[in-house]
Amino acid sequence: MKRKLTNLLVTGGAGFIGSNFIRYLFEHAGFSGRIVNLDALTYAGNLENLADIEAARGGKSYFFERGDICDRARVEGLFAKHDIDAVVHLAAESHVDRSILGPEAFVKTNVMGTYTLLDVARNAWKGRDDVLFHHVSTDEVYGSLGDTGYFSETTSYDPRSPYSASKASSDHLVRAYNHTYGLPITLTNCSNNYGPYQFPEKLLPLMIMNMAEGKSLPVYGDGKNIRDWLYVQDHNAAVWLVMNQGATGESYNVGGENEWTNIDLLMNLIGIVAAKLGLPRAKIESQIVYVTDRPGHDRRYAIDCSKIKRELGWKRSVEFAQGLEKTVDWYFERKEWVAHVKSGEYAKWIDKNYRAR
Ligand code: NAD
Ligand code: TYD
Repeated sequence: MKRKLTNLLVTGGAGFIGSNFIRYLFEHAGFSGRIVNLDALTYAGNLENLADIEAARGGKSYFFERGDICDRARVEGLFAKHDIDAVVHLAAESHVDRSILGPEAFVKTNVMGTYTLLDVARNAWKGRDDVLFHHVSTDEVYGSLGDTGYFSETTSYDPRSPYSASKASSDHLVRAYNHTYGLPITLTNCSNNYGPYQFPEKLLPLMIMNMAEGKSLPVYGDGKNIRDWLYVQDHNAAVWLVMNQGATGESYNVGGENEWTNIDLLMNLIGIVAAKLGLPRAKIESQIVYVTDRPGHDRRYAIDCSKIKRELGWKRSVEFAQGLEKTVDWYFERKEWVAHVKSGEYAKWIDKNYRAR
């Protein structure tokens, strides 16, 4: 199957994966259509991520529209105004720790927001088959693994945090709209992304910045939880491949085949940062602090991505050592970006919730 998608509505395009996705399409994928970026600009959305693209393409092939995906009239207006033929749905509340402290925003955006987009698409597209709703989801919907095994597309859902439960719910709605109304959909469930423009509350950017600033490095629990790390542009290449060539109604798992315990990952990162800053490793290691574990902390995620490799020929292109180094360089070169994103709501939130740390 080969689709021709021209007018894309990217939700959450000012966030980490979304801004990298828009950049990937214009700069690497040779995309020549139009991208409409719908984003509410929550604490996690930052227009600076796309300032160069706005300057070069704004009002021509790139359009930023501030708005909430739960606002039905707003979404309907955008479908009509831009003649949308594909949705790439990334907008979400995305941080597990925040979902534990305040689940409501996750239910609103991730469940109700997804429902709103689906329902507008169903009405606007009315049975067309030359359109696509692509939903970007997470491996966390599958729950937690023991020491062995992998999540495949047929693994039963078993979400365990408010974040993953809200994403699982959105996945079910997406499939239900396909089965019930025939809405053309594809879905990807990916592992932990890393790379530039990630908000510094997630593990990697948080640790990189805290190392540079001489702050403590908070390791949850025993540090032995395992995540599978995937470079963000490898993920975005997979999303675009699935959108163009994936079978309608199908899900594809995307992973880095790159499992690390948090503590081993941190030690690896310390080696890179120590060398770049010319500091002894022991100095940075002394910043590690084991803190109270996250409630319900999933032990291990690991993805079996053989389906997308076999059926669509996707493969990861960035090796972890290379990707980590690029990521550290990016954060060190873009300290101003970090200062900007941390100066608003995030700083207030951290102060309120993590003052004790
Ligand atoms: P992010 O938090 O960096 O960005 C989310 C974006 O969505 C922000 O720009 C924010 O302003 C916007 N947004 C939030 N609520 C909105 C609303 N109601 N209306 C409109 N816009 C809204 O998230 P991310 O890491 O880029 O993740 C993008 C998607 O990928 C999410 O759906 C997430 O569940 C999924 N995902 C992320 C990872 C990861 O490692 N980051 C892994 C698997 C899946
Ligand atoms: P995170 O980046 O929040 O992603 P997710 O929970 O969606 O996988 O966390 C990645 C791992 O790092 C997870 O096991 C929790 C752990 N972690 C810490 O140990 N310390 C921290 O300060 C953070 C933010 C995460």
